[in-house]
Amino acid sequence: MGLLKDINREYEVVKLRDPSIHSKWEVMLYPYFKAMRAYRKAHAHYLKGHYFRARMISQRASRQTGIEIHPGAKIGKNFFIDHGTGVVIGETAEIGDNCMLFHGVTLGGTGKDTGKRHPTLGNNVTVYAETVVLGPITLHDNVIVGAKSVVMHDVEEGATVVGSPIRKVKQRLSDGTTITYNRDGSIRYITDSDGKRIGDNKDCDSCASRTMCKSSEKK
Ligand SMILES: CC(C)(COP(=O)(O)OP(=O)(O)OC[C@H]1O[C@@H](n2cnc3c(N)ncnc32)[C@H](O)[C@@H]1OP(=O)(O)O)[C@@H](O)C(=O)NCCC(=O)NCCS
Repeated sequence: MGLLKDINREYEVVKLRDPSIHSKWEVMLYPYFKAMRAYRKAHAHYLKGHYFRARMISQRASRQTGIEIHPGAKIGKNFFIDHGTGVVIGETAEIGDNCMLFHGVTLGGTGKDTGKRHPTLGNNVTVYAETVVLGPITLHDNVIVGAKSVVMHDVEEGATVVGSPIRKVKQRLSDGTTITYNRDGSIRYITDSDGKRIGDNKDCDSCASRTMCKSSEKK
C-alpha cells in the first residue's frame, strides 16, 4: 500500500484518539506509523514462512521506533499505539479491532507456556501506560486497563481494572449502565447511560436496579 494511502488511513485512526494532532502529515512523525508499516510488511513475510526476513524488518523498526511487534502477532483494524516507546507485542498475541496501547505496554509471555503464549485482546480494548499483560489470557471486548497494572488473568467484557494484582473499579454493561466498585469489591454506585446515578451501595437492595446489581456482583 502506498505512503499516501497509509497516511490517510492512519490519520483517521489517530484523530479520533489523540487530540494533539493538527494535520494529517503529522501522522508520519508518530513512531507507531513507522512501526505499523513495518509490521504489515513483516507479517506478510511471516505468513509466507520467510521468518528471517520478517524478523529483520521488525527488529529494524524496533530500533527506529522503540516499538517491538513480533511479525507473527495478529492485529485488527484501527489499532493505535500512543507515544510508543517500550511497547512489546509477542508472537502469538492477538489484538481485535479499535484497540489502543500506550507506551511501555507489554503483551508478553510468562515463560511457562508453549504454543499460544501471549495475550488476546478483544475489540475496543485500551491498555494504559507501562502495563504488563502476561500469558495466553483474554481481555474481552471494551476492557480498560489502568496505567502500571500487571494482568495475569482473563478480564471480563466491559471491565476497568487497575493495579497489581488488578482489581475491578468499573463495569460497563451492554445497556450503558456502569457499576463503580469500592476497594473492598462492594458497589459504590451505579450510573445509567447518561451518567445519572440510579443506585448505590446503601439502597441497591430496594432500587429498581436490584436485579442488575445482583447479576453483576464482583467476582
Ligand atoms: C484506568 C483509568 C482510565 C481509570 O479511570 P476511571 O475509570 O475514571 O477510574 P477512577 O479515576 O475513578 O479511579 C477508580 C479507582 O481506581 C484507582 N486507580 C485509577 N487508576 C489507577 C491506576 N492506574 N493504578 C492504581 N489505581 C488506580 C483510583 O485511585 C480510584 O480508587 P478508589 O476506588 O480508591 O477511589 C485511569 O486511572 C488510568 O490509569 N489512566 C492512565 C492514563 C495514562 O496512561 N495516560 C498516559 C498518557 S501519556
